[in-house]
Amino acid sequence: MLNLGLKSRVAKIGLLVLGISIAGTVMAQSAREQQIAQRLQPVGSVCLAGEACAAGGSAASSTPAVAQASTAAFSAQGTYDQYCAMCHNTGMAGAPRREDAAHWTARIEEIGLGAIVTNAINGINAMPPRGMCATCTDEQISEVVEYLSGASAQ
Ligand code: HEC
Repeated sequence: MLNLGLKSRVAKIGLLVLGISIAGTVMAQSAREQQIAQRLQPVGSVCLAGEACAAGGSAASSTPAVAQASTAAFSAQGTYDQYCAMCHNTGMAGAPRREDAAHWTARIEEIGLGAIVTNAINGINAMPPRGMCATCTDEQISEVVEYLSGASAQ
């Protein structure tokens, strides 16, 4: 009896030691994994404008710069090239071509530049509203129409 009791106690202690050593190994391993994860972290983190960034990111300083850049970057010609050229350079879907000065002169005489700009903003027949430049303001569309029609040169 006594012998059996001692044996089972020894066995229990053995299990306990085994348990502790397993737990120790697991903990040591997870600590090591944490260290590795920390070492693998990038030195800086990329933070895009409009995104919520990690604390310490450069969102506050980069956002205004990007906003300024997009305002300053507006050019009637650039916008025309990006949004309008595919139709107005080719005459696609019956779009009056930019080169067709006679058309634009006659059209301006017919309804006036203001009405032409309004048509460009609202869309007319196969001409999509704002020529698909959803971010263009009315004023910017007006500038692009002047570029397209050559009105500013007249
Ligand atoms: C998907 C092709 C397409 C795109 C893109 C497009 N247009 Fe047009 N646009 C047309 C067509 C077609 C017409 C002729 C509509 C009509 O009079 O029936 C037109 C007509 C116009 C007119 C003449 C309106 C009038 O009353 O005579 C202006 C100005 C104009 N577009 C400006 C623009 C500008 C500015 C852009 C770019 C921001 C643009 N368009 C992009 C197809 C396009």
